Amino acid sequence: MFKRSFKYYKSKKPLPSLEDVLDMNKSGQLLKDSKIERCFIDSKEYCHLLGLKPPGEWEIFQIVNHPGLIFVKNPFTSVGQRYWTVKCLKDYTKKPNKMNIDGSDKIIANSDFWEIAQHDRNILMSLRWTTLGYHHNWNTKHYNEAEREQFPEELKKMIEYIANQLGYTDFVAEAAIVNYYQMNSTLSGHTDHSENNLNAPLFSLSFGQTAIFLIGGKTLEEKPTSLFLRSGDIVIMSKESRLAYHAVPKIIHTEITPWKINNDCTWENDNNEMQFLVDESDWKPFGEYLEHSRINVNVRQVV
Ligand code: OGA
Ligand code: MN
Repeated sequence: MFKRSFKYYKSKKPLPSLEDVLDMNKSGQLLKDSKIERCFIDSKEYCHLLGLKPPGEWEIFQIVNHPGLIFVKNPFTSVGQRYWTVKCLKDYTKKPNKMNIDGSDKIIANSDFWEIAQHDRNILMSLRWTTLGYHHNWNTKHYNEAEREQFPEELKKMIEYIANQLGYTDFVAEAAIVNYYQMNSTLSGHTDHSENNLNAPLFSLSFGQTAIFLIGGKTLEEKPTSLFLRSGDIVIMSKESRLAYHAVPKIIHTEITPWKINNDCTWENDNNEMQFLVDESDWKPFGEYLEHSRINVNVRQVV
């Protein structure tokens, strides 16, 4: 059942109908149909350093057929979207993080991916993933203590802040995979089971173009539910959903661009990094990348 849905949504000829894809922009109807339930958190705290809106404004849902699957509808400010996009493209592609294109002729040791990619579209388009913190070994599918690097501090802070707000007070961000999708990229059905601690939830962030995300059950027999993941949306896979099969069969063009600066930002520090983000000429290459790409940040606790 899972593979059949994957093929259905992936198909270019004929194109799939998107009628059954859960759309959190239509949450009113989904609530009425009992497909989703609203979750409420009690928070008056406001942390404006992480690119997030105040938690009291977050719209949080639970998918009724998939207990433990939590959806937070874009809690980021427009500057926050830019901040994390720049981190993923410019910073997380630096050493000691690993990339799929390590070892290619153009990425010689310690060279700066983002610098090179400004003049080399092939290199830019061939970026598929980076790993941060505990590095995931794609061959053995294991994490290795010997290959552990420092996890980016600001990402740890942001994810643990969200985890805390949602009641996962013990969550420790230790490893992340950043996936870079182009419009024809897909991610086939899999479960994430290499982490030693499978009770800890998994946090998945999306930026840029829209994904169709499939979430099924513990086996491939179960029919998955499809939902749109748009820029800024966060999915948390916890409890029964932590080990569920999931996939991205298709990327579609987004109808919204929440990284366009509006007045939802309340950055109170006058740090240079923020100025860089609102300067349209500095932002330009990142914005152009997002026009044909999706970035997914997948954060796990390993031990
Ligand atoms: C993963 C993953 C989902 C996504 O990296 O393991 O499932 O939304 N990513 O891209
Ligand atoms: Mn996964």
